[in-house]
Amino acid sequence: MSTIKSVGLLTSGGDASGMNAAIRAVVRGCIYHNLRIFGIRRGYQGMIDDDIEEMQSKSVSNIIQTGGTILKTARSMEFKTAEGRKKAFENLRNRGIDALVVIGGDGTFTGARIFGEEFDFPVVGIPGTIDNDLYGTDYTIGYDTALNTVVEAVDKIRDTATAHNRLFFIEVMGRDAGFLALRSGIASGAEGILVPEIKTDYAQLNHFLENGFKKSKTSSIVLVAEGDEIGGAIKTAEQVVKTHPEYDVRVTILGHIQRGGSPSAFDRVIASRLGVSAVEALLTGNRGVMIGLSNKDIIHTPFSQAVKNKKALNPQLLELTNILSI
Ligand code: F6P
Repeated sequence: MSTIKSVGLLTSGGDASGMNAAIRAVVRGCIYHNLRIFGIRRGYQGMIDDDIEEMQSKSVSNIIQTGGTILKTARSMEFKTAEGRKKAFENLRNRGIDALVVIGGDGTFTGARIFGEEFDFPVVGIPGTIDNDLYGTDYTIGYDTALNTVVEAVDKIRDTATAHNRLFFIEVMGRDAGFLALRSGIASGAEGILVPEIKTDYAQLNHFLENGFKKSKTSSIVLVAEGDEIGGAIKTAEQVVKTHPEYDVRVTILGHIQRGGSPSAFDRVIASRLGVSAVEALLTGNRGVMIGLSNKDIIHTPFSQAVKNKKALNPQLLELTNILSI
């Protein structure tokens, strides 16, 4: 029998589409299980500032289809200090909150792990980031929506690239990980995909591009993850133009457009599942874990592993690019 009666909920770090669907699932999951649920605004900073309000079922009506996060988000420097975390703990205690659900990425889970250990406090996490870079889950909330946004944008750029016989370098988000670049590159038929996990082979990239133009391809698209070792699409373009000044090159940086918008059906469904599973995990005595999806099943991964272990890009997808861009 669980002793938990009252749960705090926050979103932290970079927002991702589908976070609202996850908030809705946690709130309704708590109410279904007769728990009180408190929304904490602006992530860990709101916990320190006591920016906390009890939520009802109707607090999450009509949000499953919206991007952003109704709880707002922040990256709190104060929570990195012991005094900040103590203030946050006291605020939770004064309100009778005895467990936490946090939605976010690796920074969020690092904070969750430290806080949980420091105060022996039950915390579970839900993966929400467009980067999909968390070990312990096949998909993070927001990744699928961002993928679709990128593919739609690249399709549009392809039209103008073809009209002008141009080579485009398109930068997508992914400070440390190439999941977004890899999958959206395959889905949009990119001629090249550059990711932080693999050092760029410029000879090979040039070979693909030269081959393409020789075979009178009317456009070429290279997707570059922002964290690629050279430093993004502008620098990559400059590098390629050095050897091929004859190419008509343009650069597009998609930027934060990738973070917003109405979540895809896929993101809404995984957010709903992960949200309810997070509440159930707390009720069955789990703590210090991220709730993830593996081959369609719900799994739990300790925060320390979710953050520290590197999730690998699928080598079969990497190989696909080489085959398909001939
Ligand atoms: O959401 C993750 C991410 O998109 C990274 O890929 C990117 O580097 C970062 O967030 C940028 O976020 P912000 O502009 O909020 O600092």
